[in-house]
Amino acid sequence: MINIKLIDKYNREITRLRVSVISSCNLNCPYCHNEGFSSHNSNKLTLDQIKKLLSIIDKYSISSVKITGGEPLLHPQIVDIVKIFSSHHKIRDLSMTTNGLLLEKYAQKLKNAGLNRVNISCDSYHYNPSYKSLKSIAKQITIALEVGLTPIKLNMVLLKGINENEIEPMINFTAEKGITLQIIELIDLDKEYFNKFHVSLENLASKLENEAVEIRIRELHQRKQYTLPNGAKVEIVNPVHNTNFCMNCKTLRVTNDFQFQPCLYRIDNLVPIGEDIDKSLKEAIERRRPFFVKGKNIHD
Ligand code: 5AD
Repeated sequence: MINIKLIDKYNREITRLRVSVISSCNLNCPYCHNEGFSSHNSNKLTLDQIKKLLSIIDKYSISSVKITGGEPLLHPQIVDIVKIFSSHHKIRDLSMTTNGLLLEKYAQKLKNAGLNRVNISCDSYHYNPSYKSLKSIAKQITIALEVGLTPIKLNMVLLKGINENEIEPMINFTAEKGITLQIIELIDLDKEYFNKFHVSLENLASKLENEAVEIRIRELHQRKQYTLPNGAKVEIVNPVHNTNFCMNCKTLRVTNDFQFQPCLYRIDNLVPIGEDIDKSLKEAIERRRPFFVKGKNIHD
């Protein structure tokens, strides 16, 4: 088996692909980073493009694939996409980030096709018409648990004045269901929105630090995962203020118009995937550089 390591100039080994299979979404979350793009459009990847990605998985030591969108479950061939990735013996972790709305229809099909697990975006505990709440997807979460798309993670982007006081009920809900809660710091893609709604996660992190019965540091971005006395597992994702976030980035992205995206925060250095995918890949790796250094955006 060929298993060449992909290492960039900053000595970061790339082991994960994050593949945006479609741009469109059936929600319109006001903060959405849209994987770095300014608006949703009609782009989606074809099955041939997905198959082409397998050739780099064949050659390099990539063992993890995350399927994202837009909303990936809107892709008409999403089950086939999952089958293509899951059929590759090197993929040990095949996951999807979804808003969960279509899971009732798809959970079993995705599991049968070989998907390991899902991350479900859900910011609010109580019903809130602008932000997705547990009330609107509780059933879908239960189904995903039943078919075994586990471990499930719930993604909660923390927003000032919107869901700051919902952390506790979210922790309790996820503990009860055996789900990990990921509390995510808002990423600054729209300055005005960011200034209004950004909350630093530092206070929350020290509170969890005090309460935790166990703290695990994940290899990915050096994220901390806290286990609380009630069994809750809470992870803090602070891309802006975690000085290690970029230095520990192991992810190369593929956009829904089939380009390599060396960095989540940038769309000015994309590499179109040409006939010679290996050549495009090498160029993308060459263009990788950390965006935040010591919590500061060095590209402003
Ligand atoms: N800041 C932080 N997280 C975001 N997400 C989307 N936009 C932002 C943002 N501006 C997260 C959502 C979703 C995942 C794909 O990205 O929580 O779960």
